[in-house]
Amino acid sequence: MVVKGMPQVMKSNTNTTPQSLNAKNDTVESSLRPSDFIDFVGQEKTVERLKIMTGAAKKRGEALSHILLSGPPGLGKTTLAMILGQEMGSNIRVTSGPVIEKAGDLAGLLTSLEACDILFIDEIHRVPKTVEEYLYSAMEDFRIDIMIDQGPNARSVSLNLPPFTLVGATTRTGLLSAPLRSRFTLQTRLDYYPREILAKIVTRSAKLLSVEIDPNCANEIASRSRGTPRIANNLLRFVRDFVQQKVIPNISKDVVKAALEMLEIDVDGLDEMDKKILSCMAQNYSGGPVGFGTVAVAVGEDLQTIEEVHEPYLITEGYVQRTAQGRVLTNKGWKKVGLEQTVIQEHFQI
Ligand SMILES: Nc1ncnc2c1ncn2[C@@H]1O[C@H](COP(=O)(O)OP(=O)(O)OP(=O)(O)O)[C@@H](O)[C@H]1O
Ligand SMILES: [Mg+2]
Repeated sequence: MVVKGMPQVMKSNTNTTPQSLNAKNDTVESSLRPSDFIDFVGQEKTVERLKIMTGAAKKRGEALSHILLSGPPGLGKTTLAMILGQEMGSNIRVTSGPVIEKAGDLAGLLTSLEACDILFIDEIHRVPKTVEEYLYSAMEDFRIDIMIDQGPNARSVSLNLPPFTLVGATTRTGLLSAPLRSRFTLQTRLDYYPREILAKIVTRSAKLLSVEIDPNCANEIASRSRGTPRIANNLLRFVRDFVQQKVIPNISKDVVKAALEMLEIDVDGLDEMDKKILSCMAQNYSGGPVGFGTVAVAVGEDLQTIEEVHEPYLITEGYVQRTAQGRVLTNKGWKKVGLEQTVIQEHFQI
């Protein structure tokens, strides 16, 4: 299940390394997380937009405008939020949607901000609806109206806030309400990385981990990383462990292949669960149309994980197609499971 155990709320000055801010993957990811735009490879459009905004805000000496970063897990949303803090020379406070349970939690957070601070809310789509409404005036007018007391003593208190920047990250933009979305000056989506860019990331990470790796091996890891830097880094670490434990002197392409086969990651980067989903659709539901809620039960995986991790990749890579009736296996999907397309599928002309 995709549960992002972000820290409760952390405050830090970005003079410290940004890596230290993200508790979730910190122990594993921190040493590899790029800390500035120079080290952050790929996502050119998003980076360009962010550079324009940070450059202009710095020239004006103002707080950066609110930014929403979206995209599947592991593509660099948290990394970019930390880089924004670094670029602006601002304090960054990190929290996540589910942690902000009540309006009072949000009020406490907002009132402790200083001018130009960045508030980073990860999984912003999981901010409760009752709290979300308080964000509207905070973002737009730098003001928050909160109710104090209950019953006949209830009264509203208006608090002024310093100009701050809200950076939101979400894997599910569709779950964000339109009023909240529209209050972000920039909404930018991160896409899966092409293989060449991932290979560059693998090469950079290998250097940081003191692993000697040639371009062929970096490419092999990149092509099996389903377009995701976090996966590429994880595979690289596994290859490093594999080589060390098997006492192999040099990392060759065959060694990389052997290591990754052990993880049951195929040449197209599909993992066990991806393949299980495709097989289930083919064998149990004749290739669909079928809802992913049904598939989730059949394969024994959490629906949220399927929707956030597996579905976007299977659709982007053309193994599955979304139709009004449900998800359908494409020809490429049928080929992947090594089965023939069935009559029901032809009916839907996929
Ligand atoms: N463009 C990049 N260049 C180099 N490394 C990257 C890049 N993007 C991400 N990474 C690496 O991938 C790791 C995961 O990135 P990050 O934590 O920012 O993803 P995320 O989008 O916030 O994921 P999640 O939705 O799960 O929170 C980082 O620690 C970093 O090492
Ligand atoms: Mg993140």
